[in-house]
Amino acid sequence: MTFADKISETTVLVEQRLADYLTGARGPVAPPEKLAEAMRYAALGGGKRLRPVLLIESAALFGVRAENALDAAAALECVHCYSLVHDDLPAMDDDALRRGRPTVHLAFNEATAILAGDGLLTLAFEILATPQTHGDPSVRGELALGLARAAGWAGMAGGQSLDLEAEDQQLEVNDIRRLQALKTGALIQFACVGGAILGRAEGESWQALETYGRLLGQAFQLADDLLDVTGDTDKLGKETGKDSGAGKATLVAALGLDEARAELERLEGEAIASLEKFGDSAHTLREAATFVSRREY
Ligand code: IPE
Ligand code: IPE
Ligand code: MG
Ligand code: MG
Ligand code: MG
Repeated sequence: MTFADKISETTVLVEQRLADYLTGARGPVAPPEKLAEAMRYAALGGGKRLRPVLLIESAALFGVRAENALDAAAALECVHCYSLVHDDLPAMDDDALRRGRPTVHLAFNEATAILAGDGLLTLAFEILATPQTHGDPSVRGELALGLARAAGWAGMAGGQSLDLEAEDQQLEVNDIRRLQALKTGALIQFACVGGAILGRAEGESWQALETYGRLLGQAFQLADDLLDVTGDTDKLGKETGKDSGAGKATLVAALGLDEARAELERLEGEAIASLEKFGDSAHTLREAATFVSRREY
């Protein structure tokens, strides 16, 4: 099975689980319909679902079945979708197109987009706290702690803050790397570490997944920045040429296209090498590193 097949297979499972949560089938109280509709619009029907695939595949290294990683994967995807809704707001990147459709604040309105983000972020932690996510409360606690750290002020939200500040600053390359490690790297790394938590990994296995997740996160944002320059709007489902227009601090702007491409190739190799101790069982995660680095969408 190729990685693209794996992504499509997992997408079906994750979307079904997200739909279960977002149609209220798994919650005790029915939410207001307009907000629920905006949250469904933001979270269903599109997206690569890369983070859920990484979580499920990382957990699979330790014999955890996909079915038993799906709730944690859906929670992580809720946080990612919320981050996209807020990232697109006029006060942030001011984008009109996402996953090939109008962004949430245009399809609904700005206040609803803010609330839909709030709702998805909170739902993620509701899911992680729910006993069906994992029978052991200490595993649920570790997942919640890891996701909170990855998404919060010293993770994704912190990185978004640096990203916006940098619009009118000249950043050093290492500051750009730090910004990217927070805004994108933290959630991608959590996808891998989340699998390690579910699999009760220890020692070297844990460290290997942490390293792989860090490298993959770096590669992912570098590829995103390259695609903003060289990619195709139809394939990406979002507008290109936005970063230079907004004065974003990207590695492509700092290093130039050729050096940025070379760095991406290096990161792909290092990410693959970091999985060595898992042998053949990490086949899909190795393919994920290649997909992330060479993707066109
Ligand atoms: C886009 O993430 C935002 C970044 C972190 C660069 P994805 O490229 O994973 O977005 P979807 O989920 O596939 O739409
Ligand atoms: C966004 O980075 C990272 C998030 C936390 C959402 P970008 O602003 O580059 O993502 P796109 O290009 O809009 O998807
Ligand atoms: Mg942004
Ligand atoms: Mg953006
Ligand atoms: Mg981008």
